[in-house]
Amino acid sequence: MCVLHEGTWVDAPICYLEDLFVDPACRGQGIGRRLIEDLIALARSRAWSRLYWHTREDNPARELYDEFAQADDFVRYRLQF
Ligand SMILES: CC(C)(COP(=O)(O)OP(=O)(O)OC[C@H]1O[C@@H](n2cnc3c(N)ncnc32)[C@H](O)[C@@H]1OP(=O)(O)O)[C@@H](O)C(=O)NCCC(=O)NCCS
Repeated sequence: MCVLHEGTWVDAPICYLEDLFVDPACRGQGIGRRLIEDLIALARSRAWSRLYWHTREDNPARELYDEFAQADDFVRYRLQF
């Protein structure tokens, strides 16, 4: 699930990957990697300016995410309504 939004310093849309989920029965077959690769290809073909996502510090999927980018030092603040 991803959402496009505007950004202060860019003209082109920013893509927020809100959730990445693969059916547990289908995991470990490269689908998660392919979904990210597909989104990157989409971002390039549509000239989006940025793609980003959040995850828990201890999420094992970070092994996969680290293949694409380095995590930055942002910290998330969240209010629940
Ligand atoms: C994260 C998720 C999308 C990965 O999907 P997937 O199809 O299983 O991932 P892939 O098969 O493409 O895995 C690619 C690499 O990721 C790593 N990886 C992915 N999930 C992992 C896990 N749970 N534990 C350890 N390594 C994992 C492996 O290094 C793997 O590399 P390999 O193929 O060389 O072994 C899937 O596990 C999922 O839906 N998890 C639950 C929801 C979730 O946590 N989403 C992320 C929220 S930010």
